[in-house]
Parts: sequence; structure tokens; C-alpha cells
Amino acid sequence: MGDAIVDVSTWLVLADEPAGADGKAWLTPPGAERSESRADWWLFKPAKTGLVKATGGQHATEYRRNDDRVERIASQLARCLGLPAAEVRLARRDALEGCLSRYAIPDGWSMASGDLVLAEFDGYVSCANDPKVKERSGHNLSNIQVLMDGLFGPPFGAFSDVPAFDVFAGYLVFDAWIANTDRHAVNWAMLYRGNDVCLAPSFDHGSALGSGLRDTGIPADVDAWCARGMAGRFEGGRSRTLVDLALDAVQRGGPKAGEWLRKLAAITPEQSREILRGVPGLSVATSTFMGTVLETNQRRLCA
Ligand SMILES: Nc1ncnc2c1ncn2[C@@H]1O[C@H](COP(=O)(O)OP(=O)(O)OP(=O)(O)O)[C@@H](O)[C@H]1O
Ligand SMILES: [Mg+2]
Repeated sequence: MGDAIVDVSTWLVLADEPAGADGKAWLTPPGAERSESRADWWLFKPAKTGLVKATGGQHATEYRRNDDRVERIASQLARCLGLPAAEVRLARRDALEGCLSRYAIPDGWSMASGDLVLAEFDGYVSCANDPKVKERSGHNLSNIQVLMDGLFGPPFGAFSDVPAFDVFAGYLVFDAWIANTDRHAVNWAMLYRGNDVCLAPSFDHGSALGSGLRDTGIPADVDAWCARGMAGRFEGGRSRTLVDLALDAVQRGGPKAGEWLRKLAAITPEQSREILRGVPGLSVATSTFMGTVLETNQRRLCA
């Protein structure tokens, strides 16, 4: 059965999301706004468009990107891997298609971005002006490991006693698997409650799996495309593959970090393909490409 598309046209707007780009808003179903809990808060992220460059006197044209569908796919892949990540559904808000990302912060906790918590490190360059800058000085595994020393994963499920860095290593294994090149320091965060601090669940995976590729741009050589997936959001990352960064993090972490590779190795191509098949609107060419990317990167990581 395909994924349901939730119609959120009548949902209430609780707040606009100031971080990140364009038209996102926190919504809740009618009636839930009276709840003390934020468990029913969902971030609506409209589908994005890309531009096809003009050639020979023609106007540039817009096309629909797959970021929202990829967010849905990524949330299900994360679940398969057992990784703590925001739950995502496909949605429609009046004429706008998009996705919903469920508030991933447990009641009583608040969130601060990696950017904010790294600010105290010597030489760290803040994302304030542009989170997308490549090779961000100070956004590296050494600083992140120091920052997370003695802290644990998200305070629910199986992670509250797993070292935070070992869980973060899982985020990097996940990124390398799904070809997510956008793990800048505003795309991971820490959670706070009084004196308690821990790693937040993973979120914002819409740039993965070549979500901006059009059918006509799907690469014939998927191996070569995967090998070009660089960790550009990290210091030194322009010349470092996502796979290399992930394996480095696993190596630096404790025994729990190594478990991510064993969990990934156990995922079958059929599990990924079933998830891809469930997402409406993906062309066969795109879905086949994404399936091949997942198999290729799984092989590279688990070799
Ligand atoms: N599920 C979630 N739970 C809690 N906070 C979230 C969640 N998803 C996103 N956020 C917060 O909202 C901000 C913006 O969301 P997100 O990162 O998904 O969008 P974005 O950076 O604008 O993405 P894009 O580049 O895809 O437009 C995040 O930096 C984070 O602070
Ligand atoms: Mg983001």
C-alpha cells in the first residue's frame, strides 16, 4: 500500500519556523492546540522547486524537486536502521504539496543547534551568516567528540544510556548511506532540560538521495556518483567522502558506534525498495536510482 498523504489544510498554525528557508510552519490538527504536550506539533515543509538553466535565449524553467519525498523515505530508512530521527509524513496544504516533520523534542526539553554549542570552541566559524558554507572551520569530529563527552543519546527509546558521540556516528553512517551532503551544524542539535544535556534526534534529510536530480539528469554511473558524495559541510570535508567521515566517526566512537555498521549490513535491498515503492510521485527511473544508491553506499560502508 502506498504512503498516505495527510491533508493539513484545516490544521492550525502554531508558529512560523524562523530557522532554515521558505514557507515552513508548525501546525497541529484541530483540537490538539489545547494540549499541554507538543507531541502533535508537525513542521510543514512545502515541496521545493529547482531551476533548469536557460540555454540559447530560452527562459529558465522551474521543476519540482523531491526533497519532501526524500524526507519521508529517509524517516522510514532511519526507522529500519533503528536510528533516532524525526517521523515524517507526506502532506498537502491547500494546493501545496510537501511533508510534515513531527516535533522531535520530548516535552520539557528544549533544543540548541550544533552551531550554537560549538560557538565556544576556538576557531569555530558560526553558521549565522550562511549554514551552507563548505569546509566550516571547527565543524570537525574532534570538537564534536569533546562537546559530547560524557553525554548520551536522545532521552527516549534505547538511546538514553548510549554515548552521544556513538549515536552521532550513527547519523554520519546514515548520511553516507543515503548520500546526505547537508549535515551542517544547524542540521544537528543538542537537547536541554535544566542541567541535563543530550543529543537530539536526527532531522532534515531532504537533500539526500539526489533529491534535486531530474529524470533527465540521473547519472548512468551510480558508483561514480556515490564516490563523489563529499562531507563538504565539515572542516576538510571537500576532499573527504561521506563514507570516509562516517567510518572515522565509528572508529573514534565506542562499541555502540560500531553497531551501526552491523545494523546497516543486515538491511536487505527489498526493505529499501519497499519503502521507495510506497512513495507516490517518484518516477520509476528516480526510484530505481535511489535504490541503487542505497545498495552502493551500503556496500561501500560495510565492505
Ligand atoms: N522534527 C523536528 N523537531 C523539532 N525541530 C525541528 C524538526 N525539524 C526541524 N526542526 C527545526 O526547524 C529548523 C528548520 O527545519 P529544517 O532543518 O528541516 O529545514 P531547513 O533547514 O529550512 O531545510 P531545507 O534546507 O530543507 O529548507 C531546524 O533547524 C530545527 O531547528
Ligand atoms: Mg535544516
